[in-house]
Amino acid sequence: MVDLLLIRGNIFTPIDDGKPKTLKRMDELAHIEDGAIAVKDGIIVDMGKTDDLLKKHRDAKSIVDASFKAVLPGFVDPHTHALFVGTREKEFDMRLSGKSYMEILKAGGGILNTVKRLRSATVEQLKDELKKRIRTFFEYGTTTLEVKSGYGLDFENEIKMLKAIELAKRETPMDIVATFIGAHAIPQEFKDKKDEYVELVINKMIPFVAEHKLAEFVDVFCEEGVYSPEETLRIIEAGLKHSLKAKIHADEIASIGCSELSLKTKLSSCDHLLKITESGIEALRRSGTMATLLPITAFSLKEGFADARRLIDSGVGVALATDFNPGSSYSESMPFAIGLAVLGMGLTPREAIVASTLNSAYVLGREKQVGSLEVGKQADFVLLKENSYLFIPYHVGVNPVHSVYKRGERVFSADC
Ligand code: NIG
Ligand code: FE
Repeated sequence: MVDLLLIRGNIFTPIDDGKPKTLKRMDELAHIEDGAIAVKDGIIVDMGKTDDLLKKHRDAKSIVDASFKAVLPGFVDPHTHALFVGTREKEFDMRLSGKSYMEILKAGGGILNTVKRLRSATVEQLKDELKKRIRTFFEYGTTTLEVKSGYGLDFENEIKMLKAIELAKRETPMDIVATFIGAHAIPQEFKDKKDEYVELVINKMIPFVAEHKLAEFVDVFCEEGVYSPEETLRIIEAGLKHSLKAKIHADEIASIGCSELSLKTKLSSCDHLLKITESGIEALRRSGTMATLLPITAFSLKEGFADARRLIDSGVGVALATDFNPGSSYSESMPFAIGLAVLGMGLTPREAIVASTLNSAYVLGREKQVGSLEVGKQADFVLLKENSYLFIPYHVGVNPVHSVYKRGERVFSADC
């Protein structure tokens, strides 16, 4: 007997064929009209036409009628800084009057502003902040979420962040993937001795994080005036040596050869890429590294979007994320990221859905569990208010999500 039978859904999903979607395959979604999904123990055990599944699973413990609304896989958001204390709306105002993101950071604001506030919070407070935000992520259809450290910038506080993420993971149904980004900025105390901080990250933080399984990924803000490609490479290699997977912030503000690192080391993804050059694109294509694009950040920084068309048309696998953080992207909404990807970056609506589900699951190494609606995968799905995924970019700026199911349990409904 199945636990849940979803019927009369207009189901749209990528079909996993063992690798991230690239080129024309990124523009395809399978469609089951009047479709049904049967769920047992949180896993999809059957899919097909409503009439067929009703015959087979008439005794389902619960039947949910989707009333022909669109049903999609839950979104996988593979790049967020969702754990922080305090917001930075005054800096937002400063940026609107002409100060740049990097000027604010260099003056001790930006990431360093959040660091000051985070260091005085307890693990419990941090966990509660994250849990509160997870409710909003569910509301916008995200069912798998990457969360980074990076606002501690010393051993104690980076570990405190990762422990808070671990606690939140246990106390909410959200699938959370933790990333250690001790090299997110240069801490004030190491302003004139960055080398020493890099050593600390490599020799103390990474071994501890790996040994205690506090993160799956290591990340670095590879950027002019922050961490150079050489420093980034050393940190990434240290992470890989300790069995962490690696991803980097690359070519966000200046192009200094960060994406090109994908030819020298094993990266799961290069993220941002607003300023990627031809040689960077070539490096991603040749190394098979995914590009995770963060259109809300470009939009909020009032920068040009990443050249998504060029990346996709060159054969690079593209994923989308929110980059949710208090500085450059204060939005938890994957539907908004999809809207911008379609209307600002020239992705087709289907490419944008694939980039937000299956391809982003590949970035996080979760493609066997999530990212598409197929038998054997987790029953993580989103019911929209309308009958087509097209309403996500079309009805832009408005939440298109009607309800959200995580492993077959409803975690959000717009009706209640
Ligand atoms: O991805 N660029 C570095 N990190 C974040 C911003 C974090 C912050 O400003 O608090 C980003 O944009
Ligand atoms: Fe980021």
